[in-house]
Amino acid sequence: MSKDTTTQLDRIEADILKQNVCPELAKQATQLVFGDGSPDADVVFIGEAPGKKEDEQGKPFVGAAGKFLDEMLAMIQLDRSEVYITNIVKYRPPNNRDPLPGEKQAFLPYLQAQLEAIAPKVVVTLGRHSMNCFLPDLQISKVHGQPKRIKLAFTDLVGDQRADGVQGDDEKRTEPYSNTAKGVSQSSTQQSAAKRSSVSGFAGKQDALTLVILPLYHPAAALYNGGMRQTLIDDFQTIPAILKKIT
Ligand code: URA
Repeated sequence: MSKDTTTQLDRIEADILKQNVCPELAKQATQLVFGDGSPDADVVFIGEAPGKKEDEQGKPFVGAAGKFLDEMLAMIQLDRSEVYITNIVKYRPPNNRDPLPGEKQAFLPYLQAQLEAIAPKVVVTLGRHSMNCFLPDLQISKVHGQPKRIKLAFTDLVGDQRADGVQGDDEKRTEPYSNTAKGVSQSSTQQSAAKRSSVSGFAGKQDALTLVILPLYHPAAALYNGGMRQTLIDDFQTIPAILKKIT
């Protein structure tokens, strides 16, 4: 299973390079920071864009925010090797500026393809940029810590990996749902169906990937802000219970 997913992820990474996505960013960056962790992960964490350390090492979240993320993972008995970590934008923006809308847009189909390949149970968005890719109309200060189910139309970015001939498009269909146990557990069957489908070469008939998105504050924003830091830790510690409802 993970071999198939690893192959898909490798293809997506190669595709970003081949398609020369965001050439201006690429020129200024040391390297592409694609993602790190288990291709079989139940939880995928999505940040904004690589910083200096990430750019140097080619891995997401290896600086101060990454250390904090590792600490929070340890609090819920998870290691980063058991989850998957990536960013929306996969090259370091100059001077760590916020990613631009066009840059987020350019990388979105590749991020979506990563999620299709991994088919995690929960996608944890870190910060508002990441959340707004999936939940464009929501405010993080209002919805942090509340899981939302969304449907994404399959992208045909990696069409050569797909066996069902379903046409993908770049259009995102979001259907935020209320934070209820029923809502979360309902997604479980759809989720595992999507997982089966995506890892077996998309042989299933689904035309959409159902994901549970958990929007959290960004660890870098919360690191030195006492109140936000505790809120992030409290929200983070709900991850095992959310996973349990979905399993
Ligand atoms: N902040 C992010 O959003 N991503 C990283 O990889 C590191 C810091």
